[in-house]
Amino acid sequence: MTGIARPSHHTPAAILGVGSHLPSRLVSNAMLCERIDSSDEWIRSRSGIRTRYWATEEETVEEMAVSAAAQAVANAGLTAEEVDCVIVSTVSHLRQFPSLAVSVAHRLGTRAPGAFDITAGCAGFCYGLSLAADLVGAGSARHVLVIGVERLSEQLDPDDRTTAFLFSDGAGAFLVGPSDEPGIGPVVWGSDGSHKDTIRQSTSWAALRDARDAPWPVIAMEGREVFKWAAYEMGPVAERALERAGAGVQDLSAFVPHQANLRITEELVKGLALPEHVAVARTIADYGNSSAASIPTAVHRMLADGDAKPGGLALLLAFGTGLVYAGQVVRLPPAPPEPPRPAVPASRTAEPAARTPTDS
Ligand SMILES: CC(C)(COP(=O)(O)OP(=O)(O)OC[C@H]1O[C@@H](n2cnc3c(N)ncnc32)[C@H](O)[C@@H]1OP(=O)(O)O)[C@@H](O)C(=O)NCCC(=O)NCCS
Repeated sequence: MTGIARPSHHTPAAILGVGSHLPSRLVSNAMLCERIDSSDEWIRSRSGIRTRYWATEEETVEEMAVSAAAQAVANAGLTAEEVDCVIVSTVSHLRQFPSLAVSVAHRLGTRAPGAFDITAGCAGFCYGLSLAADLVGAGSARHVLVIGVERLSEQLDPDDRTTAFLFSDGAGAFLVGPSDEPGIGPVVWGSDGSHKDTIRQSTSWAALRDARDAPWPVIAMEGREVFKWAAYEMGPVAERALERAGAGVQDLSAFVPHQANLRITEELVKGLALPEHVAVARTIADYGNSSAASIPTAVHRMLADGDAKPGGLALLLAFGTGLVYAGQVVRLPPAPPEPPRPAVPASRTAEPAARTPTDS
């Protein structure tokens, strides 16, 4: 009987290039405090955030994803024609179908790659990275683009002081491909649906169908609960990811946790007893929490600024709505040529979030 051919070997996968897109509107805490009863001091001390980037009307999820992805491909020394799978992680694509990944693949000039979106909130990029490593490993794809993109400013209530200062926009991308040595360690991932309401869309899109005056769905969050869960649960996930990679904290060159709150990061750094030489991502201060984009934009920034060492090991660790989590150890790729710079000068006031044009 003829069977399905067994793959002859497992191909190790690694990150070959990174890309990042920071949107144009730099929004300070003072600007937000024109709408919420808060202060620059409170926001800095409770979250670590000084500024965040918000997209303009033109900076749709598609535009930002294409920008970051094109850089990742170029920085890997490849062309778009060599990409055979595109995975986009986002919670900000306002159309259910077609997927954002197919539009991005088309805009990049790829040749009919597999293309699909995934949703795992702020852990989505680490989920996608794990899928990419498995696709390359099994021989299902050779070069996989993993993109995390968000436009959360559009899903915020600018008058809600518990969320308005936290979330931001942006895109980051990794190009994953075959390598002589494993460059992406086994993922440790999971979910805890008993906390599913702690970060949620306030209402479903269906509410807009059922009532004309229904409010636009926004992010609703039980911040204190999420904080406690992340600070308590993520340490053991980090330890298991290190163990599965056969590495210890002394082997790390960088620690890149999801940029949700600087105090959560510091708790994790302390709990893991990271040695001094490990560079820690703290891009939350300038970038805010850009969900699926937070880890790749942080990796890009650390490499571009020379804070993290190309070829060194980095522990990635993410958590988000669900609640879901994922972590893995990776070998860092070559540094991108330049730190990301926003395209136009910052706006003067924090106007309400720019709306995605209805035709995109
Ligand atoms: C949101 C977050 C910064 C709030 O910080 P916190 O220290 O937990 O603050 P609390 O929610 O306990 O609120 C403390 C007090 O500040 C008040 N407060 C809340 N937001 C405020 C604001 N923007 N400005 C001033 N005061 C504020 C609260 O009303 C509360 O007042 P009370 O003590 O009189 O009741 C923090 O909980 C957090 O970051 N949680 C994790 C969120 C997260 O990671 N989400 C994304 C995961 S992907």
